[in-house]
This record gives sequence, structure tokens and C-alpha cells, in this order.
Amino acid sequence: MSNNTEEQITQNVLNSMAQAPNPRLKKVMNSLISHLHDFIREVELTQEEWALGVQFLTRTGEMCDEKRQEFILLSDITGVTMLVDAINHRLTDGATESTIFGPFYREGAQELPMGATISKDGRGEPVVVTGQVLSTDGTPIPGALLDVWETDENGLYEQQDPEQPDMNLRGKFRTDSEGRYSFVGIKPVSYAIPDDGPVGQLLRALGRHPFRPAHIHLLISADGFVPVTTHLFVKGDPYLDSDAVFGTKNSLVVDFIQHDAEEEAAHYNVTVPFYKVEYDFILNPAGK
Ligand SMILES: [Fe+2]
Repeated sequence: MSNNTEEQITQNVLNSMAQAPNPRLKKVMNSLISHLHDFIREVELTQEEWALGVQFLTRTGEMCDEKRQEFILLSDITGVTMLVDAINHRLTDGATESTIFGPFYREGAQELPMGATISKDGRGEPVVVTGQVLSTDGTPIPGALLDVWETDENGLYEQQDPEQPDMNLRGKFRTDSEGRYSFVGIKPVSYAIPDDGPVGQLLRALGRHPFRPAHIHLLISADGFVPVTTHLFVKGDPYLDSDAVFGTKNSLVVDFIQHDAEEEAAHYNVTVPFYKVEYDFILNPAGK
């Protein structure tokens, strides 16, 4: 180890892990060290930059608590979250594409009857979301569970906003015997990811904005099928092409069509004007 040339430093670290008992850990760490050292050599990192990096990661950790996960945010804005998702969800046969899970999901949303609203405060413009959950061969899936969440009209999730009722704009719905589902939400709005911490500072330093295009989150599962974590995005949103967390996929961008007929509104138990979205979710059978 006395021959500490730049290249030898890397080799010494790799050699030190040669006896690691877990082969996967060894593979991951070998690659991580090799790329990290190559990166440092490529940019010729200065001591000041190294210290800045350490401070940045320290502040990122200090920003985390039960309600705030700054490291996931960092992963999101660097595209790491979406890349991991893409590698782990190489779906085939036209199954619904997945996207980012995000930090705002909460366990324990109430299961609601078909067609019920998830809004507890009545704010926002109602949207009727309806369709079927199907297998990749087109067979309807009865009893599939849709776990839905979105922000209020002010762009805040309920746990970010003391003004909102607990578990506002969250709900679970089951498909009927023909795989059909229906629920009422509100037309989602574009919102800024939390940008008052180190991740926000990094975005500003990079000349980037913190906005996400308007979306409804859905987690869809059914016995015997691979669950999918996904969004429905609003067609025409100005941030579709510059999502701060790179989560947009064309197949998930849908028309929110405005309806003004009182009779139709009464059928869905909503007020006019309301919006309607029709979308079928396709699940891959498990074990394929
Ligand atoms: Fe979101």
C-alpha cells in the first residue's frame, strides 16, 4: 500500500474489499468506488469542492425527519429514482408504465365505494376518473385495488398543509366484477417540490425550476399481478417537458375533458363544470 499513486489508491481500495463475503455488496461497492474515483480524476476535484460536497450531504441528512426526506428528493432531481424505476420495471405486452412513487404517500387511506370523492374539503374542480383494470391479455381484473393520492388546489399534500383535513385527497377503490373503477378527485395542479433546503439550493445553482407537472398518483395492485406505481398527468401542462424529477411518460398523459351538463354532473354527484378522465390500467401477470 506504500505505492500511493493516483491509480494505485483506487486499486488499494478495491483490494481491501476482495474478501467481502456478500458477492452482491462486493460487486456494487467495486463499481461504486471505480466510478467515484474516475469521476474525481475526471473533474480533478479541488479540496474546497470536496469540503462543499461533504457539507452538502451533511445538510441533506440534517434536513430529513418523519415528514421530510431530502435524500429521496436529491435522488429524484438527479434522475436516479427514475433510472432505478426504469431498470426494475421493464414491462412488456402493453402494461401500464410506472413512474416515481414520491415522498407523499401515506399508508391507511380509507377504502371508499365506487364513485366516491376523495376530497374532504370540497376545494378544487371535480374530476371523474373512470375506466377498467385489465390483464395484458385484455381480461378484466375484478377486486383490483387502486390507492389514490393528490395535492389540494394549492399544490400541497395534506401532510404539508395544516389547513387540510387529515388524509384529505387520499382514498382506495376496488374494481367491480367487470374490472371497472370510478372515483372523484380534483383536477390536479402543477406544484413545486420542497425547495427550501439544500436540494432547492442545488436546483437554483443549476438554473433549474422546482416544478412538477400536474398529476394524480395511483398505486394499483391485484392478486396474481405485478403492482404498478404510476401517475395520470394532465395533457397541456406547461411542465410536462421539464418535470423537476423526470417522471413524465407520454403514455400517462391524458385529456382532462371539461363537462358542463347539469344532468351528467348530478349522475356523478359533482358540480359543474367538472372534468372527466377515462383510462384503463393494464397489469402484468406475476411470475411472467
Ligand atoms: Fe406528486
